[in-house]
Amino acid sequence: MSGPAAVPSPYEILVRKRAGRALDRTEIRALVAGAASGSWSDSQLGAFLMAAAIRGLDRRETRELTLAMLESGERWELARALPGVVDKHSTGGVGDKVSLVLAPLLAACGLPIAMLTGRGLGHTGGTADKLESVPGLRLELDRERALGLLREVGMALGIATGGIAPADRRLYALRDVTGTVDSLPLIVASILSKKLATGAAAVVFDVKTGDAAFLPGMEQARELARLLVNTCAELGVRAAARLTDMSQPLGEWSGNAAELLETFALLEGGGPPETREVTLVLALDLAALAGVPLDRAALARALDSGRARESFVRALAAQGGERAWLARPELPLAPHERVLLAPRSGWLGKVQTRQLGLLMVAAGAGRQRPGDAIDPGVALRYRVRLGERLEAGQELARLYLRRADADLEARFAACFEIGDAPGPVPVLVGEELLPEAGGAAG
Ligand code: URA
Repeated sequence: MSGPAAVPSPYEILVRKRAGRALDRTEIRALVAGAASGSWSDSQLGAFLMAAAIRGLDRRETRELTLAMLESGERWELARALPGVVDKHSTGGVGDKVSLVLAPLLAACGLPIAMLTGRGLGHTGGTADKLESVPGLRLELDRERALGLLREVGMALGIATGGIAPADRRLYALRDVTGTVDSLPLIVASILSKKLATGAAAVVFDVKTGDAAFLPGMEQARELARLLVNTCAELGVRAAARLTDMSQPLGEWSGNAAELLETFALLEGGGPPETREVTLVLALDLAALAGVPLDRAALARALDSGRARESFVRALAAQGGERAWLARPELPLAPHERVLLAPRSGWLGKVQTRQLGLLMVAAGAGRQRPGDAIDPGVALRYRVRLGERLEAGQELARLYLRRADADLEARFAACFEIGDAPGPVPVLVGEELLPEAGGAAG
């Protein structure tokens, strides 16, 4: 009599994937368990990542990989305790503070929202870094604390800790050094293994396109959006994705303290119209997914009346934020203010936005190495929009640096490309992608 089939060895699994064959659940679980426990070596995992990046993973393999990575760590199952809880994810960019506005806006309108945020990565800013400008705020959450906050103030903003998807930590670090970061199935499994760990009932994905997007090309961004929502649906999570523009900074301000202050302005009906628009669209998408009858006018009222701001202040205070500071938020910007001027007349044709993000990191707004301290006061104020007519000497942007640095300032200035004719104006909010029929979303 034969017993249960033996788990194939790493060698057998790797040979199979290298030959282009689809892996089954047992094989995928073996490699994820090996990543989490350390029983698979870096070279074996690197070989798997390269084979997967070249040969691809089909929808079933992508789902199995996501689920196995998700199950490698803590799962909070928040929707089991609070069925309406929702979440939002952005693929990241420069000046993107939409999560910070959207969460209190939805909480003010009765939709509980829990979000585990991250630190800046590469050229993109991180929501956790922005929030840490709030004196006293604590972002460490566990399931009970998150549920308590959701019940008390309707929102919980945390930072993803080591207990969430440990297999991803190792695989992500190896992708970084094996040239396999931009494989779509690997990206999807990585994002979802963390995003689905809180167990929200519905998730909206803001998938950026354009120069500073994780995947700049429109078709690649669309593919990523499709794979994210289809995989969610197959795992029983309602999901939608929205393509939004990242070919220029979103809104006016980039930099941790400055973006937090811009968030307060948006939450009381002010702030840049582009950021408000992206926030409203994503909030409507999320309300529709959650089956909550909210319309644009109700959301706009929550911003304009200051109710969204009150909800933010209440939530941050519940997480330790100093009440006196929250009542009158002020943060110093770095002292060396430098205005970048248009060297000639013309039309703003291109902004090297990814490079702007990298220069912000170089100026101290982000980390060059994990564990580096960041300078919250470093900021960039973006004063123009793509397609705009410019006159020679017009202000393009304003920098706030810790100290004068002529070379860095020149590199910032070189990010603005002025042409002789009006170029295309990017579409700020693009299409919404919903799961294709056949998913198991409930
Ligand atoms: N963010 C993630 O968490 N993982 C990826 O692979 C890409 C972006």
